[in-house]
Amino acid sequence: MKRSARSVTALTGLAAGMAAILIAVPAWFGAANAHEPELSRYGYWRDIRPLLERHCASCHSGTGPAPVNLMRYLDALPWANSIARQVLQRQMPPWLPDDGTGDFAHARTLDDRETDMLVDWAIGLAPEGPAPEEEPEGPGAEADLPLSRLTLAEPVVIGEMESEAAVCQPLVRGEGVGAAAAGFALIPGEAVSILRRAVLYAGDDCASGTPVFTWVVGQEPRMRPEGVFDRLPEDAGFFLHLSYRKGFDTEGLEFEDAPQVVVFPPLPDRTRPVEILAVEPGTTPVGPATLLSVLPPEGLDPGPDGFAVEAVGNDGAVTPLLRIRRFDADWAEKFAFREPVRLAAGAAIRVSHPGAIVDLVRAPPTGPDEDP
Ligand code: HEC
Repeated sequence: MKRSARSVTALTGLAAGMAAILIAVPAWFGAANAHEPELSRYGYWRDIRPLLERHCASCHSGTGPAPVNLMRYLDALPWANSIARQVLQRQMPPWLPDDGTGDFAHARTLDDRETDMLVDWAIGLAPEGPAPEEEPEGPGAEADLPLSRLTLAEPVVIGEMESEAAVCQPLVRGEGVGAAAAGFALIPGEAVSILRRAVLYAGDDCASGTPVFTWVVGQEPRMRPEGVFDRLPEDAGFFLHLSYRKGFDTEGLEFEDAPQVVVFPPLPDRTRPVEILAVEPGTTPVGPATLLSVLPPEGLDPGPDGFAVEAVGNDGAVTPLLRIRRFDADWAEKFAFREPVRLAAGAAIRVSHPGAIVDLVRAPPTGPDEDP
């Protein structure tokens, strides 16, 4: 048996993962012989890394709580089986909406071909293939962010003994934060390796406040659709709800954290304010309106049928907008529709569980069919 040293190492690691993959996907049994896996036709640098860069780099390039840097061959190699398993089981990339419901602006999903490529590569000894002359650049440098910020009144301390923490901290309005925003971003602080999620609330505290903006690991700045802005009344209070969880490599450490919320000032052509509504289970008339996003309830227990949101037209026609069967609080965000959903006069939304939040804009712009 002739094999390069590297292949042998990969093969040893492969055995354990292979069993799991074969059990998970019997179809693969025919495709690959468990004892003599064929070398994949895909190479890391040519075929796999571009895919990882597109779908995984926002979290897996060495910072943040994601454990693995997938942007370098030798770092990714030991994880090849795990990658195959995670993408087959739809655990990675993390994304809550069920396949086939809704069309979302920031969906983190792989298509079947991409999944097949990753699995084929992993099962086929995860070859490096021809390496580039120079290592490709990592994900782009941080975009220029405006300096208008909401900052914590005091930093959060996560003690050595705390494995998890959830805190609600008041924010201070920084220089340049006006009465409106076109969008938000979060800049993690020192505790970037353990910060799992953040929610910006406007009001008196996190429990009763209105959730304005959500952040999950790896998230880029989030802008409202064109023409739309968030109101930030001068007298409103702001609070940041922060969820931390340590991993094996951060257990026992103390952190002092002061993440910041970036506020993007709106341009004058943003004339339509967002309304953020808590909707009760059942049918709530909201039309005429344009629906921008849905945030699942905090602490959701989706149950067997899942958490569901539907649009009900004034003719009774039902359009599914979002369904979540597998819930994980870490990844609960404002799921924003790629094309905001227009609801005619008399149209409603129907929600399965209490505590869902919808963002909408009242009275859609008058189109040709709506002119008086
Ligand atoms: C939005 C952030 C994010 C994206 C995008 C993402 N991951 Fe992850 N990944 C994580 C986090 C966070 C963890 C740590 C486990 C956890 O907390 O869920 C993780 C864990 C993993 C693990 C280790 C699982 C284990 O065995 O412990 C693998 C492998 C992995 N991801 C592969 C991928 C691949 C492949 C992609 C792209 C197709 C991807 N991830 C995209 C955030 C992300």
